[in-house]
Amino acid sequence: MNAQLTPAPAQGDLDAFWMPFTANRQFKANPRLLARAEGMYYWTADGREILDGVAGLWCVNAGHGRREITEAVTKQLGTMEYAPAFQMGHPIAFELANRLAKIAPPGLERIFFTNSGSESVDTALKIAIAYHRARGAGQRIRFIGREKGYHGVGFGGMSVGGMVNNRKVFGSSMLPGVDHLPHTLDVGNNAFSRGLPEWGAHLADALERLIALHDGSTIAAVIVEPIAGSAGVVLPPIGYLKRLREICDKHDILLIFDEVITGFGRVGKPFASQAFDVTPDLMTTAKGLTNGAIPMGAVFAHRKIYDAFMQGPENAIELFHGYTYSGHPVACAAALAALEVYTKEGLLTRAASLASEWENAVHSLRGLPHVIDVRNYGLIGAAELEPRAGKPGARGFEVFLECFERGVMVRQTGDTIAMSPPLIIESKQIARIVETLGTAIRETA
Ligand SMILES: Cc1ncc(COP(=O)(O)O)c(C=O)c1O
Repeated sequence: MNAQLTPAPAQGDLDAFWMPFTANRQFKANPRLLARAEGMYYWTADGREILDGVAGLWCVNAGHGRREITEAVTKQLGTMEYAPAFQMGHPIAFELANRLAKIAPPGLERIFFTNSGSESVDTALKIAIAYHRARGAGQRIRFIGREKGYHGVGFGGMSVGGMVNNRKVFGSSMLPGVDHLPHTLDVGNNAFSRGLPEWGAHLADALERLIALHDGSTIAAVIVEPIAGSAGVVLPPIGYLKRLREICDKHDILLIFDEVITGFGRVGKPFASQAFDVTPDLMTTAKGLTNGAIPMGAVFAHRKIYDAFMQGPENAIELFHGYTYSGHPVACAAALAALEVYTKEGLLTRAASLASEWENAVHSLRGLPHVIDVRNYGLIGAAELEPRAGKPGARGFEVFLECFERGVMVRQTGDTIAMSPPLIIESKQIARIVETLGTAIRETA
């Protein structure tokens, strides 16, 4: 527990940190500095309490300041702060991989460690290409992503991603051979759906068209988020993911689920793949893996993929890929402790028991000024606001600021306000998040 508030830097001291995904000049003119955290709350540098409606950035699933994680990290730092994982090993990385394999979707029992969601995605894409080559299908080098997809900021993830602002400046540097499925957000047909929308399973059939266009035998993998978070909460229509799975199977194409935000209990099962009963071949994770305490990611690979690599001479490295910090012992300690907390407190499934209360709460926003859609699943919610003419995102940003002024942290993407609170949330906190957002929406013209 961080009992002391960190002193706020003076105004000029904000210059050196080039902040990620931030309007730097706007922020530095009016900074929002978080200095301490515990349970469901942050405290600002000037001592204001902020209810965390987004689990930090969709990662602090067990709430802030978990003593068990702090102690495990401290102990590991005192025992062995670092050890390499190239041609060497350390027990805690194997222990964590075994632990993860136990909660994995069926067959996804081989775990490759990374340091972030972006690295997990680029790792999964590389594994997909190398897997096909290992089976004698080296011509399978294309990827299919999806519009509005977010798969981090590496060149691979950016190329398969479909958020225009993340791509447009880097257009000339994209991976070749990538195409995109249409996204599944359709406010016209699905506005105010409770849970998964009913309309839109047929959107998966666009994959057949891309396969016809590019020739299925050149495609390595399809990558989608089961639920897209960064683009403002985009849900899969009922039956959509199953259809994608069937088409991939038919054409021998790998299916990758990017579960960086949906993993570790967010949707009421350990992974969304289990909630939707669709098993991918590769699954990318990060964020909740360590409760956000130490950066870490993991790619879950199906055994058949791992086994395909284990064919050549036994002294040969099977996959020329890895990170200095793959399976970092301190990150492993944090992840093991986080998993222990999740298990003890039932957090990998708690979202399922809160889902209907959460759904009713977020749908109470329907009817407020400018609210054109409300979406929810598990402990994920979003309210989409009508953009101001000629000023997309302005209304959303003002609502986000108003919530913060009123002591609640939500996440804004354009004119969509997303919520994904820690999975320890209680009823009164659900009510406060939604009431505050409702007030902020009413107060914003
Ligand atoms: C689905 C998804 N994939 C990948 C990433 C990238 O993760 P990171 O920021 O840890 O690189 C994110 C981050 O929000 C994400 O939501």
